[in-house]
Amino acid sequence: MVRASMSEDILEDIFAKAVKARIFKKRDILSPDYVPERLPHRENEIRKVGSVLAQALKGNKPNNLFIYGLTGTGKTAVTLYVLRRLKTKALELGLRVNYVYVNTRQRDTPYKVLSDIASSIGLRIPFTGLSTAEVYVRLVKALSRERGVLIVVLDEIDWLVRKRGDDILYRLTRIGNELPGDSMKVSIIGITNDIRFVEMLDARVRSSLGEEEIVFPPYNAEQLNDILSERAREAFYPEAIKRGVISYCAALAAREHGDARRALDLLRVAGEIAEREGSSYVDVEHVKKAWIQIERNRAKEIVSSLPLHARLVLKAILEATKDKPYTTTGELYEVYTNLAKKIGIEVVTQRRISDILSELDMLGIISAQIISRGRYGKTRIIKLSVDETTVVSALEEVSREKQQNFYHPNN
Ligand SMILES: Nc1ncnc2c1ncn2[C@@H]1O[C@H](COP(=O)(O)OP(=O)(O)O)[C@@H](O)[C@H]1O
Ligand SMILES: [Mg+2]
Repeated sequence: MVRASMSEDILEDIFAKAVKARIFKKRDILSPDYVPERLPHRENEIRKVGSVLAQALKGNKPNNLFIYGLTGTGKTAVTLYVLRRLKTKALELGLRVNYVYVNTRQRDTPYKVLSDIASSIGLRIPFTGLSTAEVYVRLVKALSRERGVLIVVLDEIDWLVRKRGDDILYRLTRIGNELPGDSMKVSIIGITNDIRFVEMLDARVRSSLGEEEIVFPPYNAEQLNDILSERAREAFYPEAIKRGVISYCAALAAREHGDARRALDLLRVAGEIAEREGSSYVDVEHVKKAWIQIERNRAKEIVSSLPLHARLVLKAILEATKDKPYTTTGELYEVYTNLAKKIGIEVVTQRRISDILSELDMLGIISAQIISRGRYGKTRIIKLSVDETTVVSALEEVSREKQQNFYHPNN
């Protein structure tokens, strides 16, 4: 009898724990790459992208399309959603319509982009050994033997252009001019999260890529709430989300320019934290912890991508704003120079520091607003725009990893 009851207790414990861990039903639903079946509040954008691409179903070359808007406004998701549906419809109708998706942040050279396009029509390009011009020639030749429509998506196109210029974009948007009339028709969809990139683009590239242009507006808190609720229904067990959690995530992400990726990350990380704590549900406290964790990771990621002098400038900003709300260009340069001397590296010019400040500002880690001081000329009001301890620990961690220990020069 004693034995029986003991084993009962053991099982009771195991079962209780298993029940407790019922938070995620399908975590993948919240992963950034998952394209959901429904995209609430993007009906207009789906309609616009759909009507541009629908030309492919008549055997025509759809106009090139330029899509821009802030991060997390659904540009990638909507584009892939429409393309999948288009492909299915084409199959139904017995038409040859294909697409290839290239993220140029990862596939960051013209060579890689062209190889990806080539392999989508079955042309294999060796990893190295050819010139980009030769790859292009082979691609053109292969395309001229094919029929149907090929839609090429170049996502995060600003990365490639910033690094390698816009020549590839110019060529691809006009590749049709090099192909005989009855060969495969190629349309380009260029996507960017960087609104400023739009103005940077050369006029002739903009006019060939932007035959059609669609701007994706940010989501507001209410819309994010709908998006999250729908995804959460599939991702979590019904009882796993406490009241108020979704709207809290939506409100936080709405403050960050209505970024749906931010909102989904928050919810996913909150769920992971709850699971790790052995909680049977996710509550607002888990979301608060998730927010801090995400901010830390983000700061760490940004800081570790910075070159040494940029990190030094950041460190100088920290020092110069220790007991006041902001610093200015002149003062910062002094603090920076002292730091550089202390660790024995050569200083860069004030001009270069000014560029670094603009970069840090763009990355969202500081704000460096230019103000006029009348006859004293211009200066910048420089302050951190993320939590100070987050930056300190990111800098410490990164300098430890890179073994450039300027953080504690005396150690
Ligand atoms: N309307 C929407 N409904 C459901 N999920 C969405 C919606 N808009 C964006 N998402 C999701 O938010 C995340 C970010 O969207 P994404 O398309 O990658 O944004 P962008 O490409 O504009 O940066 C993705 O996980 C995407 O599935
Ligand atoms: Mg995207």
